[in-house]
Amino acid sequence: MAEVEALQAKSATEVEALRIKYLSKKGKITALMADFRNVSADQKREVGIKINELKNKAQERINSLRETLASTDTEDENIDITRTAYPIKLGTRHPITLVKNEIIDIFARLGFSLAEGPEVEDDWHVFSSMNFADDHPARDMQDTFFVESHPDIILRTHTSSVQARVMERQQPPIRVICPGRVYRNEAISARAHCFFHQVEGLYVDKDVSFTDLKQVLLLFAKEMFGEETKIRLRPSYFPFTEPSAEMDISCNICGGKGCSFCKHTGWVEILGCGMVHPNVLELNGIDSKKYKGYAFGLGVERITNLKYNVKDLRMFSENDVRFLKEFEAAN
Ligand code: PHE
Repeated sequence: MAEVEALQAKSATEVEALRIKYLSKKGKITALMADFRNVSADQKREVGIKINELKNKAQERINSLRETLASTDTEDENIDITRTAYPIKLGTRHPITLVKNEIIDIFARLGFSLAEGPEVEDDWHVFSSMNFADDHPARDMQDTFFVESHPDIILRTHTSSVQARVMERQQPPIRVICPGRVYRNEAISARAHCFFHQVEGLYVDKDVSFTDLKQVLLLFAKEMFGEETKIRLRPSYFPFTEPSAEMDISCNICGGKGCSFCKHTGWVEILGCGMVHPNVLELNGIDSKKYKGYAFGLGVERITNLKYNVKDLRMFSENDVRFLKEFEAAN
């Protein structure tokens, strides 16, 4: 009995050998059954029960060996199921995604909610609703990708189109942040690409002032580039804002002392901004006498360049894993 209970096997072939040894026609237990004839009449009952028990035990043991082997699949003796698993290589987030998320995060803490819209847009949302004159050069084929058969359909050149979509369906207060990919018909080089990423912001409410805008942008710059960062606003022009400005931050590479990155000025430009033009509010169904707003737009690649010192814009779209892996720690 003990012999049968201790039976071991490492493969299906060995299990089969055990079955033959004990239970086949010529097997040990079958032989015992054949001998049963010779047992004296008064012992028949007791011996009969014992042999039957033995036969059932052997069958059970062989079945259970077969099942364990099938479930662990150790047919191939080279597989060690106790070995630690191979480490799985995890992917990393793209630097543009990392920085975009960080920007969204900063503005989310200031109460801005996320708004997204289509990359293939119509002329109205990208240009007309944003107060672009009919003959504005940005509408030119040189700058914008058009669908040849439908000149009204274009690839958006900025995510201001998302702001238009928010304003047409929602009355103030509006406080949104619009991240997304935009397209411009530029020759690809280290400094320009035909697509890039933007984050634009829009705040419309009663009594919104330029001071509010400046304070929010200063806070953003400090959160993004460090507490010691300074900002500077220079007058500029956009059709959708009046007044308009471009914002520089103190060069985060040299700390404002002047280096080749900031062309020895101590400042680098990071975004465009301004007070929403009353025409834009009216074109999008918002009463410009009651409400005011500010807007700003920044390029994610630009911020990433500054933060991680990436000199060539093309690196962001070539997907060279050696480059992408450098951002593993920032994930
Ligand atoms: N839409 C502008 C651009 O793409 C950025 C911008 C947004 C400027 C909002 C001012 C206000 O360049």
